[in-house]
Amino acid sequence: MSEFSDQVVQWQSEHGRHHLPWQNTTDPYRVWLSEIMLQQTQVTTVLGYYQRFLERFPTVKDLAEAGDEDVMALWAGLGYYSRARNLHRCAQDVMERFGGAFPRTAAELATLPGIGRSTAAAISSFCFGERAAILDANVKRVLTRAFAFDDDLAKSASEKKLWALAESLLPQKQRAQNMPRYTQGLMDLGASVCTSRSPSCLLCPVQHGCRARQLGTPERFPVKTRTLKRSAQQWWLLLLRRPDGAVWLEKRPAPGIWAGLHCLPVFESEAALQAALPPLDATVQAHLPAFLHVLTHRDLYLHPVGAQAGAGATPPGQGLWCAEQDWADVGLPAPIRSLLLGLSKK
Ligand code: ADE
Repeated sequence: MSEFSDQVVQWQSEHGRHHLPWQNTTDPYRVWLSEIMLQQTQVTTVLGYYQRFLERFPTVKDLAEAGDEDVMALWAGLGYYSRARNLHRCAQDVMERFGGAFPRTAAELATLPGIGRSTAAAISSFCFGERAAILDANVKRVLTRAFAFDDDLAKSASEKKLWALAESLLPQKQRAQNMPRYTQGLMDLGASVCTSRSPSCLLCPVQHGCRARQLGTPERFPVKTRTLKRSAQQWWLLLLRRPDGAVWLEKRPAPGIWAGLHCLPVFESEAALQAALPPLDATVQAHLPAFLHVLTHRDLYLHPVGAQAGAGATPPGQGLWCAEQDWADVGLPAPIRSLLLGLSKK
């Protein structure tokens, strides 16, 4: 089995990525932050956020001591906001439970909020050379193809078996040097060569042993029967403006979509939105074009409705009037930010 890991390590050294900002460091704070940001998010999107985050919170202590609002504002636009709340709680846990130093084993790392088994292994192998297996979606694809593993990954027993396979493949020698390369190599292969559609098998270091390639059907792997059930939802957004141009924003409740971020008030129907207007002495000015925002399990159809608030009106509930020059700095969900910034250009 060692052949597989040797091939991946060798390929990573020659053809893998080496200059991402979270590489060439063994600081677990930096590696952890990158791994959380990279869950469900592309490298190109993460780069800017990563840099801004580290400038504002250079150490885990700075992050632990930050206010929720500051953390959410820096995360706004990256999506999957439970990651940001767990990130903050994790930093506080590292301070309280581990005296400010991240633990050095995957088993202990996985006891922290937001760190699952694969992320824990990525951190401990990158920073401490631990022989711990990662198994994110990209790596599942690489391994199921290389070994023509066709058990249904919708079943937890199959997942377990694949974890055992992943562990059996780990490098045996020179782990301090080879573990980070192997881990990064699997990620790089999954991202750039062993892609879901049209994999570039001729560039792959394990092409000669790859069972799925021998079968001629790499795209059949991994096998997973349960498909995501998607739902659709309509939201009416009240874009309420004061005569001075400020917009009314409310903090989204937790749990739920965009929890902790600021947002235009949301209504489940147009009638509900209309009913909220008279007490505010507000009148509808424009139905702006509706647009679709795609979430993991849901299509959100957003219908913004522009209204002018009467002078001195203040809507009920928790919220704030936000002046145009502050729109870029409050934590707004990406589609709401685009909507408002589109308005301010006009
Ligand atoms: N995706 C998850 N972890 C990554 C890493 N360390 N480098 C590039 N992409 C990743």
